[in-house]
Amino acid sequence: MSGRAENSGGISREKSSTSGRPSEERRSFLGVLLALGSFCVGALLSVPLIRFALFPLLRRTTELEPSPLGRLTDLSSLTEPLAKTIHVEQLDGWRKAVSEKTVYVTKDSHGQLCTLSSICPHLGCTVPWVSAKKEFVCPCHGAVFAPDGSRISGPSLRGMDSLETTTEDGQLLVRFQYFRQLVSDKEAMD
Ligand code: FES
Repeated sequence: MSGRAENSGGISREKSSTSGRPSEERRSFLGVLLALGSFCVGALLSVPLIRFALFPLLRRTTELEPSPLGRLTDLSSLTEPLAKTIHVEQLDGWRKAVSEKTVYVTKDSHGQLCTLSSICPHLGCTVPWVSAKKEFVCPCHGAVFAPDGSRISGPSLRGMDSLETTTEDGQLLVRFQYFRQLVSDKEAMD
C-alpha cells in the first residue's frame, strides 16, 4: 500500500516538473528580451551624454570668426605698423570667454597690407612696435623684427606670425590664430 502511494507521488512530481519547463523557457526568453531592451534604451540615452562629455575635445579652442581692422582706404596710407585691438572668442572647456588681442596692420616686403600677431614666436611675450627704432623689439629676451615682421636678430627662430586677412565691403578683416612657439616654421595650433 505504502509503496504504491510513494510510486503515485513520484509520478505526480515527475509530471509537474515536465509541465514547468515551457514556462521556465518563456521566463528566460522574456528576461533576455528585457535585458536587450534595457541595453538599447541605455545606449540611446548615453549618446547625448557622451557628446556632452567630449564636446570640449571635439570643438576648436578658438572661434575663427574674422574681426574688423578698419577701412582699406584709411589703412593703405600707413607708413609704419599700426596696433589694433581685436576681440577673440575662446572656449575653455564649456566656458566661453572673450579676450582682447593686439595685432599689427603693416605692409609686407611687396608693399601690400598684411597683419601680424603681436605674440612673440620665441616664448609668447607681447612684442611692441618701437617707433624710434623703426623695429619691433621683444622686451623679454630681445628678439628684433623688421616692420614687415621678418626676423632681424635674437632668440626667436622665425619672424612674427602673419594672420589670415580678407576684405569685405571695403573693410580689412583678420582671423586670429595661435602658433607654436620655439620652432622655426610657422605652425597653427587650432
Ligand atoms: S619671448 Fe620674445 S624674445 Fe623671448
